[in-house]
Amino acid sequence: MCGIVGAIAQRDVSPVLLEGLKRLEYRGYDSAGLAVVDHNKQLQRIRVLGKVNELQEQHQSSPLQGGTGIAHTRWATHGKPSLDNAHPHICRNQVALVHNGIIENHEQLRAQQVDAGYDFSSETDTEVVVNAVYEALQTTKELLQAVFRTIEQLEGAYALGVINKDEPERLIAARKGSPLVIGVGIGEYFIASDVFALLPVTQQFIFLEEGDVADIKRDKLTIYDSNQQIVERPINVSELSSDVADKAGYRHYMLKEIFSQPNAIAESLENRIEDGRVVTSEFGQNAESIFQQVKSVKIVACGTSYHAGLIAAHWLEEIAQIPCQVEIASEYRYRKSVVVDNTLFVSISQSGETADTLAALQLAKKSGFLNTLAICNVAESSLTREAELVFLTHAGPEIGVASTKAFTTQLVGLFLLVIAIAKQNGLDSKQEAMFVKQLESLPGRVNQLLQYKDDIENIAKDFSDKHHALFLGRGSFLPVAMEGALKLKEISYIHAEAYAAGELKHGPLALVDDDMPVVAVAPNNNLLEKLKSNLQEVQARGGKLYLFADKTSEVESTDGVYVLKINALYDFMAPILYTIPLQLLAYYVAVIKGADIDQPRNLAKSVTVE
Ligand code: G6P
Repeated sequence: MCGIVGAIAQRDVSPVLLEGLKRLEYRGYDSAGLAVVDHNKQLQRIRVLGKVNELQEQHQSSPLQGGTGIAHTRWATHGKPSLDNAHPHICRNQVALVHNGIIENHEQLRAQQVDAGYDFSSETDTEVVVNAVYEALQTTKELLQAVFRTIEQLEGAYALGVINKDEPERLIAARKGSPLVIGVGIGEYFIASDVFALLPVTQQFIFLEEGDVADIKRDKLTIYDSNQQIVERPINVSELSSDVADKAGYRHYMLKEIFSQPNAIAESLENRIEDGRVVTSEFGQNAESIFQQVKSVKIVACGTSYHAGLIAAHWLEEIAQIPCQVEIASEYRYRKSVVVDNTLFVSISQSGETADTLAALQLAKKSGFLNTLAICNVAESSLTREAELVFLTHAGPEIGVASTKAFTTQLVGLFLLVIAIAKQNGLDSKQEAMFVKQLESLPGRVNQLLQYKDDIENIAKDFSDKHHALFLGRGSFLPVAMEGALKLKEISYIHAEAYAAGELKHGPLALVDDDMPVVAVAPNNNLLEKLKSNLQEVQARGGKLYLFADKTSEVESTDGVYVLKINALYDFMAPILYTIPLQLLAYYVAVIKGADIDQPRNLAKSVTVE
C-alpha cells in the first residue's frame, strides 16, 4: 500500500528519498514519484509508472537537488495506475503533497474546487488535499496553518507530507488513520510510512499519534495534537539495523523469510517460557486476572492472520475447552453481532495497520468484551497502541508481501495464549510442561522440514502450467490448506481453493480432472483414514494427488499419487509444521513462472485502506 518518505536536511535529500522508497517497495505499489524544493526555491518533480529503479534511472539522467523533499510509492485506489495519478501532486507550482489513505469526501471537495476554478490533472482523491492546502495558503500565508485548515475539511484516513516552495526550510506531516513516523537525525529530520525506510539514516523515531500534525524544520520539530496543542512525543531508539531489509544471499525476501522461521519462532518464544511454564504476563501486566475470567474468545483478522485465528480456534476448544469464534475483520465491523459475557476479543495482524482489523478492534472496545488483545509483529503499530493487552511476535521485519514467518510466529503466540487461558480452566502443570516441550521443539522441527526444499522444487514443476489447484485438509489442517491455497494464488497467480476434504463430494469433485492438481495435508491423526477415502475419490476421477504426509502414515506413492513423507509427527505443532512445505511449494511454483514473488501484482503488505 502507498509508501511515504520525506526529508529536510542541509544535504541534498534525493538519495535519502530514493533509498527510502526502495525500502518501502515491499508494501506494494504501481507508480512512484519524488519532489524537492530546489536551490532556486522552485518545486521539481519526477514520476514514473513502474518501479523505483526506473525513478532512480530518471533521477540519474536529470538529478533533482534540494534540502527539502517528499516521495511516494502509490498503490492505486482512486484512479488507475498512471503517471498523472502518481504522487507527489502539485498545485499551481506552489505546494507539493504525498498522501497515504483515502479521503472519503473527495467528490464533494472536488466539486467545490472545480467551482472555485481549480484544474485537476489526476483522478485521485489526493488532489483535493493539495488544492485545499494551496487555497488555505492564500489566506494563512504559511504552511502549518494551511494544513490545519485543510485537515478540518477532510473525512477519511490520511498520512500526509507537504512542502511549499516559498518555505523551503519546512516540511509538514500529518496523520490520522494511516501510519507515519518521524526519523530524528542530527540537524535533520525525516518522515516515512515505517521505520525500515529510514534505517540507513537514523535509529531514532517518533511515532505520531492519531490526529497529530508535525511542523518540521531542520533544527526544530514541533508536534501538535488533534486539538492543535503542542505535545511532546517520546523518541524511541530502534534496535533494528539497516541491513534487516537485505536478502542475505537469498534470491527473494520470501525465501529468506521462509528459511528464517526456526529463528523467528525461537525469538518469539524467548522469555515467554520459564521452567516449563508459559509466562502469562507477556500478554500484559494484568493478563493473568483477565484470563481467569475468560469464558469464550472472539478472534478477528484478515488474510493470512485470519488463517492463524482459525487454527487457534481448534486449539482453544480442544486444549482449553473454551468456545472460540473466528471472523474476517471486514465482515465483523459491518454487522450486528452478539457479545457473550466474558469474551476476550483477539485481533491478529502482522503489520498492525490493517484498516479493517483496526476498525474491528475499535468497534470491539465499545461492544462490551471482557478485554481486547492484539497479536502483532510491529511494536508501536496502530493496533498495539489501541489494544489493552498486547503480545508481540518477534518475527523481525517481513518484507515479502506473502506472509510466512509472521504467520508461524502468530501461531506460536496463539498457542501460548491457549495454554495461558487453559491454565485457568484446569490444565495442570504436567500437561502445561508437555505443551511447552512441544513448542520448544518447533525451531528444530521446522528446520528439518526446510530440508525438503529440493523435493518440493521438483513437485513445483508439475504446477507451473496449471490454471487451478485444489487444497484439502481436515480439522485444524483445513486452515493450513487454506493458507497453502492463498500462498499459491498470491504469488503464482494460479487459482487455488481450499476445501474441507469431507466437502469434496458436495461440489468441487465436479472440477477434478487430470488438469487440476489436488494437494492434501495428511497428518497421521484420527482423521487419516477418512482423508484417505476422500483422496480415493479424487484418484478415481483421474486427478493428480500431492500428499504431504507423515513418515508413519502408511500411504505410498502410486500412479497419480505423489506422497512426500515428511518428519512431522502428529501433535499440536503439526499445523505449523505442515505449513512449511506449502509455503515452499507456492514459492517454487512462482519461481518457475517467473512471477514477481516479493511484490505480487495488485497486492500490498500493509493494507491501510478499506
Ligand atoms: C495483506 C497482506 C497479507 C496479510 C493481510 C492481513 O493482504 O498481503 O499477507 O495476511 O494483509 O494483514 P495483517 O497485517 O493484518 O496481518
